[in-house]
Amino acid sequence: MKSEVKTAEQLAKEQREISVAEFFEKNRHLLGFDNPMKALMIAVKEMVDNSLDACQEAGILPEITIKIRELSEDRARVSVEDNGPGIVKEQIPRVFGKLLYGSKFYKMRQGRGQQGIGVSAALLYSQLTTGKPAIVISRTAKGKPAHEMHIRIDTSKNEPEVIKDEKFEGNFNDHGTYVEMEMEGKYRKGDRSVDEFIRQTAIANPFAKLVYHVNGEKVTYSRIIEQLPKEAKQIKPHPQGVEMGVFEKMIKMTKGRTIAGFLSGDFTRVGPNTAKDILKLAKVNPNTKPDKITREEMEKIWRNLQKAKLMKPPMDCLSPIGGDVLEKSLKKDVGVDFTAAITRSPDVYRGMPFQVEVCIGYGGKLDPAGSAQIMRFANRVPLLYQGSSCAITKAVQDIAWKSYHIEHQNNNPTGPLVIVVHMASVWIPYTSESKEAIDPYDEIEKEIKLAKQDCARKLKTYLAGQHRRMLEGKRKGLFEKYLPEIANNLSLLSGEKDAEIRKHLEKLLSKGVVDESENGESEGEIKSTGEESS
Ligand SMILES: Nc1ncnc2c1ncn2[C@@H]1O[C@H](COP(=O)(O)OP(=O)(O)OP(=O)(O)O)[C@@H](O)[C@H]1O
Ligand SMILES: [Mg+2]
Repeated sequence: MKSEVKTAEQLAKEQREISVAEFFEKNRHLLGFDNPMKALMIAVKEMVDNSLDACQEAGILPEITIKIRELSEDRARVSVEDNGPGIVKEQIPRVFGKLLYGSKFYKMRQGRGQQGIGVSAALLYSQLTTGKPAIVISRTAKGKPAHEMHIRIDTSKNEPEVIKDEKFEGNFNDHGTYVEMEMEGKYRKGDRSVDEFIRQTAIANPFAKLVYHVNGEKVTYSRIIEQLPKEAKQIKPHPQGVEMGVFEKMIKMTKGRTIAGFLSGDFTRVGPNTAKDILKLAKVNPNTKPDKITREEMEKIWRNLQKAKLMKPPMDCLSPIGGDVLEKSLKKDVGVDFTAAITRSPDVYRGMPFQVEVCIGYGGKLDPAGSAQIMRFANRVPLLYQGSSCAITKAVQDIAWKSYHIEHQNNNPTGPLVIVVHMASVWIPYTSESKEAIDPYDEIEKEIKLAKQDCARKLKTYLAGQHRRMLEGKRKGLFEKYLPEIANNLSLLSGEKDAEIRKHLEKLLSKGVVDESENGESEGEIKSTGEESS
């Protein structure tokens, strides 16, 4: 059979633009919606992330109600309601009905959302699997009307379609947003469930009250602290984190009137003098208008910027959870006997400030025979999938657990242990659009590893103390067992009263044990092995 041969002209007729919504309609797995159980969790995650971001940006202590109702074997209704600042009526359609539309992508600021895809992707999935629009109700202030809108996405254009738009007359918060979607989704319990997502969200966001209803059952996570975290400031990009293509785009879009003004105005850590020095090295007149800069000049400026000795970016753009808060959270959640935490100093990857913190919990209600649980967080958002490709898991596996008295299987620690790792950054380098795992940049992995080693060292000291106390107990028990016989023999030899000797020995025994724990092997003296000296 003769195959059909096409000319360039015929092919040209078939070529057309693809809207981003159509692309993700066909590739919903790229956004994480690849099975009904996971889809439910991701939809909740996107809505809860947005609610927490909005509350924090507006300086409001969040109170968020999450509801899941299974409608049939593989269909569920999900809703999330917050007490945030609300969304102005004109913006609602685009926020929910247009992919790659949001307020965070261009900001260099620590936040849960960053791409402008999250909640519109959940809507796309809901529409694809049920054909139903999303219901949004929002009010921006007391006294103002609440609006109800039903929204779909016109995928061929990636534009919103408003099905219903009217005042909402029912009871509603003074300010806040309610979002409801129906979707192909399965509710299951387990490590990667919505339950687990909410539980871990409460651990990393102890200033939020979360009320979670699932099929009529209600669980409330009350606040552990009553203050919002320190505000994360917005910063300008650091030149050493900006790639050539982005640099070119920034020159095209700048409001700076000269190239020197652009450098010192649009970047952090480039003052007027540094700008002049760099332009001198690149042999470019500092007064040149940005739109007159040639490609060659652009590249020379960029190269000199990359080589320049610049200060690291400012770090007030980061807002870590805090070691003490994490310890409190973990103790409340898991009821562990021991916790240790560290918040590392901020560092930089690709010009992006980031900070790592780790908290370890041990013992208590944790299963001594199980594997350790690793809780991964990026900007306070729990990451439940793609663990094996995540910088956090890799850093855990890279630690010689044995040298910290922790058993392991294939370098995955075992025992009654929970390890919480949080990475805070103005931009989390996710491995994909579905934001499930952190790309293992060397700088990031190194920081995680150092933080973990620090906590593991404290755990080792605790375990050594526990071991010593156990041995003491055994020794004491043995002596106590034979004490009557010893007292009796001594009495026969010395002629003193048996009871007197016994009293004396008991006093000695209790004193000896106390002395030993005060003066014996001090916890700080325990020598570390190879791992820690590396
Ligand atoms: N509950 C809410 N309250 C106030 N504003 C909201 C709420 N939900 C969404 N928004 C606004 O809608 C925008 C789009 O949300 P969306 O989840 O699609 O993207 P994003 O949060 O910016 O980034 P990401 O794709 O990483 O989630 C947000 O940037 C925010 O400005
Ligand atoms: Mg979002």
